[in-house]
Amino acid sequence: MFKCSNDQMMNDKTKVIGTGLTGLVGSRVKELTADVFDWTNLSRSNGVNISDKKSLENAIIKDDSEVVIHFAAFTDLDEAEKQKNDKKALCYQINVEGTRNIASVCAKTGKHLIYVSTDAVFDGKENVLYTETDKPNPINWYGRTKWLGEQAVIDSGCKFTIIRIAYPFRTKFENKKDFVRKLLDKFSKGETLKMFSDTLFTLTYIDDISGALETIIQRKPSGIFHVVGSSTLSPFQAATEIVRVFGFNSKLIIPINLSVYLATSFRPYPRWSGLSNEKLKAGLDVSMRTFSEAILEMKRQLSFN
Ligand SMILES: NC(=O)c1ccc[n+]([C@@H]2O[C@H](COP(=O)([O-])OP(=O)(O)OC[C@H]3O[C@@H](n4cnc5c(N)ncnc54)[C@H](OP(=O)(O)O)[C@@H]3O)[C@@H](O)[C@H]2O)c1
Repeated sequence: MFKCSNDQMMNDKTKVIGTGLTGLVGSRVKELTADVFDWTNLSRSNGVNISDKKSLENAIIKDDSEVVIHFAAFTDLDEAEKQKNDKKALCYQINVEGTRNIASVCAKTGKHLIYVSTDAVFDGKENVLYTETDKPNPINWYGRTKWLGEQAVIDSGCKFTIIRIAYPFRTKFENKKDFVRKLLDKFSKGETLKMFSDTLFTLTYIDDISGALETIIQRKPSGIFHVVGSSTLSPFQAATEIVRVFGFNSKLIIPINLSVYLATSFRPYPRWSGLSNEKLKAGLDVSMRTFSEAILEMKRQLSFN
């Protein structure tokens, strides 16, 4: 039998540069694809701030990876809203200027850029499943900066895939809670939760985003893809499903209307933010789990820990 040394195995892996690999989504994708991709991690902890063009350029130019995945972003939506229209503030500098910097180095070096965007580019005014041909019209500052990031990618002339993800969640991650783990925490303490029953969203299991990215990195399709789960439901319906699968008391969920939130919130909330993943399925043959399938898998993973 022919035995490979560790070095030879490393060389068989596709080399990929990633930003945001310490975050909720990027760290799980890196973990799940460690056998197929050899990741170069560009992060502030190793001296690369994406808002600093020079340090970023040096790091990308000297690396011979063909693909760059750009997960890094300013993701605190409330904090972003406080910075509305301030182009000198962090949210704009990271989400727009940082993305412009990355896209411009990719254009210069011929690397393929995968930019991770969001459902928040849509205004959510129509009760439809938004597709890749629908026109974005973000209604909050975070969504606007991510959309301006998309435009910076397109305008740069680099080879690109833009993926829009929505409400990503995973089984475990200490550093940041997502929608599903926030609810699991509360329900396990017996706390009741008020959930909107008159809004829609599309939750996405990060393990599926990882699978989709394996295909996208290998095939490098150009254009925009919605990499989202296969169920669009209200937060009340999602909570009901979590309670059912994990065996909590359904009385812990109280349905409320969006108007309750809008009465006190300073950040606009897109009401109908369901996204369609048909293009991903038809064009790249990638299937994404339904919400029920994903939380069953989550429960299975938790039972092993
Ligand atoms: N989470 C969601 O609900 C959601 C929904 C839709 C789309 N998205 C998109 O998905 C992507 C990943 O989101 P996430 O939730 O995983 O993010 P996250 O957990 O908030 O992590 C943000 C990442 O960005 C990095 N970063 C921030 N500023 C940076 C800078 N100036 N230079 C270099 N790195 C910087 C952070 O690295 P360090 O702090 O370690 O330097 C961290 O790895 C983002 O593009 C986001 O817009 C997220």
